[in-house]
Amino acid sequence: MKKRKIEDTPTRWHVLDDPEAIAVQAAQRILQAASRAITGRGLFRIVLAGGRTPEAAYRLLVDADTDWSRWEIYFGDERCLPVDDAQRNSLMAARALLDSVAVPAANVHPIPAERGAEAAAGEYELVVRAALPFDLVLLGIGEDGHTASLFPGQQHPPDRLVHAVRNAPKPPPDRVSLSAGALSEAREVLILVTGAGKQTAIQGWRAGERLPITEIGGPAQVDVLLDKAAQA
Ligand code: 6PG
Repeated sequence: MKKRKIEDTPTRWHVLDDPEAIAVQAAQRILQAASRAITGRGLFRIVLAGGRTPEAAYRLLVDADTDWSRWEIYFGDERCLPVDDAQRNSLMAARALLDSVAVPAANVHPIPAERGAEAAAGEYELVVRAALPFDLVLLGIGEDGHTASLFPGQQHPPDRLVHAVRNAPKPPPDRVSLSAGALSEAREVLILVTGAGKQTAIQGWRAGERLPITEIGGPAQVDVLLDKAAQA
């Protein structure tokens, strides 16, 4: 896994009142990043986070004033389930945002995890290689300090941008995840954290424990939005 270096930009921590405040500020930051990227480069390459935390922010984006035709959508990880399974990160993003905005279908790049972890990782490796660097990577954090589908104690080949994940402790066991390196090859990383269940992970992170989440960074500016319940 990519180790953060001393010269990496320091992580910025922002404590907000509650999940609603996190969603509002996350949506604002996403749109600001989109505006910078579209103005500067004519395109906004964003990596969406899975899980439940980002959903409220995605819903707030539906009515945003932005040029959706300039957005390119990628996913940080995916569960190896059928495309229409309610547990798919791609389905959550579609229902919360993508089905309601005019991002061209060709600009949405789901991880083909329904084809199995190895096959999907091999295919998505090419997609990610062509997309780097991302403009913005969104991430959550698990109670154990995992992020995307990078779990503590699991080793992955250091030379890959996308990993096949087996025996994940958070169901389903088979997943596909971008590597820490790929998730760090971005102008900005925004990590959303809500709820008391994340306190232990936040405590470990701030105490200097080495966790998958702490491998994210590199030249990217990392901002953590956490609510008071999650604050250690
Ligand atoms: C997944 C996610 C995962 C998630 C964290 C937090 O596929 O499960 O990518 O990394 O971000 O587990 O999940 P919640 O936001 O639901 O707490």
